[in-house]
Amino acid sequence: MRPPHPWLYGLGVAPAARRHGIGRLLTAAAETQARLHGFPATSLDVDRDAVGLVAFYQRLGYERVGPHEHHWQTVDPATGRVTARGTSSTWIMRHTFPAPADEAHPTSGPEPEPEATGARPQDRRRAPPAPPT
Ligand SMILES: CC(C)(COP(=O)(O)OP(=O)(O)OC[C@H]1O[C@@H](n2cnc3c(N)ncnc32)[C@H](O)[C@@H]1OP(=O)(O)O)[C@@H](O)C(=O)NCCC(=O)NCCS
Repeated sequence: MRPPHPWLYGLGVAPAARRHGIGRLLTAAAETQARLHGFPATSLDVDRDAVGLVAFYQRLGYERVGPHEHHWQTVDPATGRVTARGTSSTWIMRHTFPAPADEAHPTSGPEPEPEATGARPQDRRRAPPAPPT
């Protein structure tokens, strides 16, 4: 079985504070926690038409794993009622961390691809994605 690993969700920087490195730092902080807990990678999904966002994550080391149809819903926290739902076409993207030996010898081949899991936090807006094929 391929190892589980965390799912990153809900990254956001206030519009006035963007493009100052905060998104990069927040992503790196989450990845540091994942590595400290022994996980081999972090994954997330991004709307396929969000070209700038895909570029942002690629700059941070993420690769597109494959397309995904992400079924989401909005829940009113006061009542628990679903107020909207829909489907977004996304890319699942993954940053696989180099093993320590690979960091010492960066020409080593990539790790076997792990599988995204339900490590994603409870998602009030969207249903969790199916694992990538
Ligand atoms: C995506 C987001 C978190 C980026 O935060 P940020 O603080 O502006 O990002 P950074 O300043 O750390 O940028 C890191 C790198 O990505 C690049 N980058 C950032 N936003 C980008 C964009 N929209 N298109 C292309 N490149 C981008 C930066 O230029 C920088 O590259 P560099 O270091 O080579 O110059 C922010 O734009 C945001 O909150 N967007 C709305 C919410 C959202 O879409 N979240 C993602 C959910 S999956």
